[in-house]
Amino acid sequence: MRLSRYFLPVLKETPSDAQIASHRLMLRAGMIKQNAAGIYSWLPLGYRVLRNIERIVHEEQQAAGHIPMLMPTLQPADLWRESGRYDAYGPEMLRIRDRHERDMLYGPTNEEMITDIFRSHVGSYRDLPLTLYHIQWKFRDEVRPRFGVMRGREFFMKDGYNFDLSYEDSMYAYDRHMVSYLRTYERMGLKAIPMRADSGPIGGDDTHEFLVLADTGESEVFYDAAITDLTLGDRQIDFDDRAGLRAICEEWTTPYARTDETHDAALFDQIPEEQRRTSRGIEVGQIFYFGTKYSEPMGATVVGPDGAKVPVHMGSHGIGVSRLVGALIEAHHDDNGIIWPEGVTPFHCGIVNLRQGDGDCDATCEKIDAALKAKGLDPLYDDRDERAGAKFATMDLIGLPWRITVGPRGLKNGVVELTSRKTGESEEMSLKAAVDRVGQIYARP
Ligand SMILES: Nc1ncnc2c1ncn2[C@@H]1O[C@H](COP(=O)(O)OP(=O)(O)OP(=O)(O)O)[C@@H](O)[C@H]1O
Ligand SMILES: [Mg+2]
Repeated sequence: MRLSRYFLPVLKETPSDAQIASHRLMLRAGMIKQNAAGIYSWLPLGYRVLRNIERIVHEEQQAAGHIPMLMPTLQPADLWRESGRYDAYGPEMLRIRDRHERDMLYGPTNEEMITDIFRSHVGSYRDLPLTLYHIQWKFRDEVRPRFGVMRGREFFMKDGYNFDLSYEDSMYAYDRHMVSYLRTYERMGLKAIPMRADSGPIGGDDTHEFLVLADTGESEVFYDAAITDLTLGDRQIDFDDRAGLRAICEEWTTPYARTDETHDAALFDQIPEEQRRTSRGIEVGQIFYFGTKYSEPMGATVVGPDGAKVPVHMGSHGIGVSRLVGALIEAHHDDNGIIWPEGVTPFHCGIVNLRQGDGDCDATCEKIDAALKAKGLDPLYDDRDERAGAKFATMDLIGLPWRITVGPRGLKNGVVELTSRKTGESEEMSLKAAVDRVGQIYARP
């Protein structure tokens, strides 16, 4: 992509109404535009990141054996009357009436709808286990939408639903979700810690929230420092291996990690003092086993092996796809702008031409652009007629992990400069060496 032909409306001024770094940077980098309180357009650069996150979520869900589909944003109120949540949900639900005076709503979540789909088509235990998911826009009329996409009213969420014959099978689905979520966040370059969460009025212990540590997070969290050392790294995960999954979940759930809602001071005090941490966190996902809460009132039953009809055990599992864009920036930025992890970056590499119009510089930049594309990468070539300082400032702001700089002085010696956004370190090398290096970086599994 050539920057001169792109749509990257960067702001010079820091928006005064944005309270946290990620919100400020998303506005300044031309990633989003607010259309109404808590409602945003995703401009081209932001849209690229959103799509990258969505793709990773899809890949990891399908690796775990979960099946993608798509449900609508609008739902009939009658389904929610069946579960009893139409009245219980309160003012967060956006209620709509159509021309025939039928009550509709913009879905804040999809338990009722998926349960209706299930009961329409599944009747035997032989069709289980089943886990369906979609990634779709949700609407919750939050009292205080704030922090940009972090707490929007309209937001993009992955929500998955498991259907199982027994509690044990449902716990296997729970473990699959926990491990697939750990992999998802790790691939994006994020450390998200599963913390025992509050299951609210439903009861039971089987829910975890995934929190990214950040001073600007809305939740207060308490944890054992040991948990932050855990990584999956390049472990091979076999999602058919129940015991293997359980072992990984135990590894992550044994060290103390809780939000303020479930915090137990007495337990926390048993951790060696030097390992106790109190901090803040951003909730980027939640997994939840809720048994027959929806299947029972809505009649989602299967005939079991013994011929008896039983309600299915269910759980629901969410990832805040649009919130993750903000959370990633909270975790990866400096005073000059965003620092994208390679897994989600909107473009793989920037190309900065220090003397636009100089035959040699232009030709070299175009060669680099073509060579990176030939490696399957997406470069962003700053071909504008701008000062070097302005070009560097834009690149730093939008946070591409790698930049190749081409100038007349270097070209005299046959070199270009490869710069890491994260460390700021630059290295001179031949055009070919720079392209190969960037190619190798993204070829890593
Ligand atoms: N208003 C919102 N804006 C952006 N993302 C959201 C919003 N509400 C929830 N999410 C994301 O969707 C995920 C799954 O939704 P869930 O129903 O667990 O949200 P929640 O627990 O109500 O969120 P919160 O406690 O932050 O209001 C959350 O973990 C979060 O990442
Ligand atoms: Mg939640």
